[in-house]
Amino acid sequence: MPNKRTKVRSTDGNLSLFTDNFMKKALLLLASLVFVSAATVLCKLPKNDTHTPLTTEILQEKYLQDILALQKEVQKLQVTLQSSTDTNLIQQQFLQARKAYKRIEFLVELYNPVLAKGINGAAIDEVEEDDPLQKIVPPSGFQVIEELIFPTFSIENQALALQETGILLSTVSRLHKTSAYNQMTDSHIFDALRLELFRLVALGITGFDMPIAQRSMTEIDEVLTSIYNTVHLYENKIADKKAIEKFDTTLKNAIAFAAQNTDFNSFDRMTFIQQFANPLGEQLVILQNSAKIAFFQEKRLLHSQASSLFSPQFYSSYYFAAEQDTNNVVAKAELGEKLFFEPLISGNNSVSCATCHQPQKGFADGQKVGRGIHQQALLRNTPTLLNVALQANLFADSRVSYLEDQIAEVIANKEEMHSSAEKAAQKINQLPVYQTLNENAFGNKTLQPRQLSEAIAAYLRKLTLLNSRFDHYMQGDHTALNSIEIQGFNLFMGKAKCATCHFVPLFNGTVPPDFSKTEAEILGVPAKPTFNNATLDKDTGKFMSTKVHLHQFAFKTPTLRNVAQTAPYMHNGVYQTLTEVIEFYNKGGGAGIGIDLATQTLPTDPLNLTEKEKIALVSFLEALDDER
Ligand code: HEC
Ligand code: HEC
Repeated sequence: MPNKRTKVRSTDGNLSLFTDNFMKKALLLLASLVFVSAATVLCKLPKNDTHTPLTTEILQEKYLQDILALQKEVQKLQVTLQSSTDTNLIQQQFLQARKAYKRIEFLVELYNPVLAKGINGAAIDEVEEDDPLQKIVPPSGFQVIEELIFPTFSIENQALALQETGILLSTVSRLHKTSAYNQMTDSHIFDALRLELFRLVALGITGFDMPIAQRSMTEIDEVLTSIYNTVHLYENKIADKKAIEKFDTTLKNAIAFAAQNTDFNSFDRMTFIQQFANPLGEQLVILQNSAKIAFFQEKRLLHSQASSLFSPQFYSSYYFAAEQDTNNVVAKAELGEKLFFEPLISGNNSVSCATCHQPQKGFADGQKVGRGIHQQALLRNTPTLLNVALQANLFADSRVSYLEDQIAEVIANKEEMHSSAEKAAQKINQLPVYQTLNENAFGNKTLQPRQLSEAIAAYLRKLTLLNSRFDHYMQGDHTALNSIEIQGFNLFMGKAKCATCHFVPLFNGTVPPDFSKTEAEILGVPAKPTFNNATLDKDTGKFMSTKVHLHQFAFKTPTLRNVAQTAPYMHNGVYQTLTEVIEFYNKGGGAGIGIDLATQTLPTDPLNLTEKEKIALVSFLEALDDER
């Protein structure tokens, strides 16, 4: 397998994009927009130069022009805001500007992720965690403007909307300046195209990046057209012409599907993903192979060769590991499994990990909050450990980054195991039954304290399953889900907004498509399961570890895989059933049950789910049980 990371440049770039074939398709699909801009690019290229431009050079030129086009659209928005108070005019121009961004999103995310955030990041205040002054970084970009002009524009927001549009304009100018020297490679381009497709599935059609306007469906064609145009710049390098035709057909059909289904709530996400997005991902892999463009190897949670988000074999359970030594993981996990059930690692030899994380209860314990080493109530509910490795940080308050550190902490915790890795290792080393296991795992009969956590972590990483009925369905087994569960998935991804925090396909807060960070959110979880005049639970969550005020009452977004097995729910176990949890969300979280928390990050509007829809959502969650 090719494993060169960079500089996989094409050598025979030429002007084949002007073949009749291309023209026909481009005109058919795009009303010739690309053609015009490609033509401009070509005019700029030196005419009697012996150097034939590389495809990446053509793309780079086109990119710079498309940034200028975005700049123009944002300027128009500025002018519209200055000269009009007509909601419709303003919103239309806003959507035009967003579309111009969607055309280049894959490249902005690839080369300027920081500016991508400035242009289209969430409209939520942030604090740099290592800033001792806790300076609040206000959000900027489209989503901030969206809040000011949707659902209707009112004159009081004019000044602010203009100010924010000005900021956006300067971010776009900066993007233009910093993009002048991009060194594009074919490998990165093809990678970015697939990531853009994954972004569309996980963040686009869920409304994640346009939460209020509910017009996400109208951006699908922009994203797909951009993918189409870029692929066709490579047309003459792709030997497999049938594959191009197939790709064109799928893409055209996807655009047609989106054009006919523009309503946010009723958009059939399952059909879109299964019939169009997943096949397009596979076809992009085929086209890349056919063009002999290498896949670069980069350390990622989702392997760079994945053709879709729904290919479990491409998720690496070692991505977030402190120890990158993946030798002997099978033997390490075998040792770790035995240690997991070993009460000797606790101070008074009475508690093992499995006392609280019980395999038959989805690795939770079925109690409101955990019971400690003296049977006392712990602060929080015991979470599942299934798929635990797929997160950038651990514990409800996100206080630890690595499983290895987390394990050492639990063992040392006075409330939980009240021992230490050193003491635990000492006890283990006196037991003959462990000698062979230790030796197989680490080449030594005696275990170092650090190896104890490493072994248990290896076992926990083996609990990465991703093989629920949902996964089978996504891989093409159409009997795996029934129609109510599919309806539940569509609600989860759309009207109920669940997937804007519990991202597919991990259903936790690890953000696709780069899966490098895990989010925490403020919901306003109550102390008691009442839906009227509720009071906020006192646990301050992430604030306890960061001391950042903005993190008060923020909790890590947990996975919903295997959730049917792990009642009760939330960090404090306040809800006994999934139906209650859904009722909480349906009312708008804390804000809807009488908790006034200005920093709530969950949208406060009620979801207006019908009884049938609530049942469908629960059914879908129940289809997320992994096979063990
Ligand atoms: C006394 C009960 C108890 C014991 C024993 C226990 N845990 Fe836990 N575990 C908990 C509770 C409660 C939490 C949630 C704490 C929090 O979020 O602050 C937790 C959290 C975790 C997490 C974080 C999960 C996530 O998604 O953030 C991991 C991993 C974990 N435990 C592994 C272990 C291992 C490994 C052992 C044995 C070495 C162990 N636990 C022993 C109760 C226990
Ligand atoms: C704004 C982000 C956000 C949205 C939207 C959201 N969740 Fe959550 N969800 C969270 C967070 C954060 C938690 C953890 C809260 C806690 O521990 O107090 C959570 C917890 C849960 C739990 C409990 C899990 C457990 O193991 O205790 C369930 C079930 C759940 N969510 C389902 C849903 C469903 C269904 C939807 C859509 C109706 C949804 N969520 C929408 C962020 C979100």
